[in-house]
Amino acid sequence: MNSNPLFSSYRSLAARCTADARTPFSDAPTAAVAVLRDGAWIPGVRVESASYSLTLPALLNAHTTAVALGRADDIVALALSRPARPEEEAYVEQLSSGPFRFDPDDVWHLSEASVDDLPTPEEACDPHLDRALSSPTDGLAAARRIARRAHVPASAYPVGVIFETANGALVPGVNVEHPDWTRILCAERNALGTLQSYGLGTARRGYLACLDDPEGTPCGACRQWLAELAPESDLWMERGNDDPECASVSTLLPGSFRGRALLDS
Ligand code: THU
Repeated sequence: MNSNPLFSSYRSLAARCTADARTPFSDAPTAAVAVLRDGAWIPGVRVESASYSLTLPALLNAHTTAVALGRADDIVALALSRPARPEEEAYVEQLSSGPFRFDPDDVWHLSEASVDDLPTPEEACDPHLDRALSSPTDGLAAARRIARRAHVPASAYPVGVIFETANGALVPGVNVEHPDWTRILCAERNALGTLQSYGLGTARRGYLACLDDPEGTPCGACRQWLAELAPESDLWMERGNDDPECASVSTLLPGSFRGRALLDS
C-alpha cells in the first residue's frame, strides 16, 4: 500500500482540499482531485445538503467541474482524500472519458496511460471565466456558449450557467449526465460545487441558459441547493424572444428547508 510516491502525492493533494468541503451535517470532510495530462489539477469537495440525498460527492464534484471547464478529456488520474468506496469505483467505471484502472494505491488512472507517463501535479486549473460580463444579456450569452460543453447523451438538453460571487469571481457550470441517472448533475449545482471546491465564496448572481428551452428554469433540487448555498442570489433566465427574467432565490423556493435543526444534534 502507498508504494507509488506519485499516487501518494495525488492523495495528499486531495487531503489538503478537504479544508474547503462543506460538511455541516456529517462533519466528515472528503475531497478528490482530477489530475490533467499537463499536471494541472481540479479539486472537488463533498458538499452536503440538508436534503441529504442531494449531497454532492467529492469525486463527482471534481469530474463535473472538469467537464464544465472543457477539460474532461484531459483527465489522466483521479484520487480521493480517503480510501475509495464501492459506489465510487462504480461511478468512475462508467465515466465516458475513461476507461480508468483502479490501482490498489487508491488512485484511478487512464487505462491507456502508462503509470510512468503520469504527471507530477503542478498548479490547480483556473476555473474562472476569462472575461468580465457587461450586462445580464452578456451573462446569458456567455452561459449559452458554456452550455456547449454539457455532457448530455441521455437528454440532449444542454444547460449552461455562470455564477458570480460578491468578489466578482465568475465560474461556469454545465449539466453532466451519467449512465446511472442518480449521478446526473445539473448545471447550477455543478457551478455551485465548483465555487465551494475552490473556496470562492457565495454566489450573488447567476445566468442560466437552457439552449433548447425558452421556458427553462432550475429544477427543484437546484432550487434547494440555491436556498442552502446561495440564499441571497438572483438568477437571470432567458425567455426566448421576451426580455430575460430575474428571480431571487427566495422567490424560486419560498419557505425552504435549510436543516438548521439538524446542526444541533
Ligand atoms: N438540468 C439542469 O442542468 N438544470 C436544471 O435546473 C434542470 C435540468 C439538466 C439535468 C439533465 O441533464 C437534463 O437537464 C434533463 O433534465
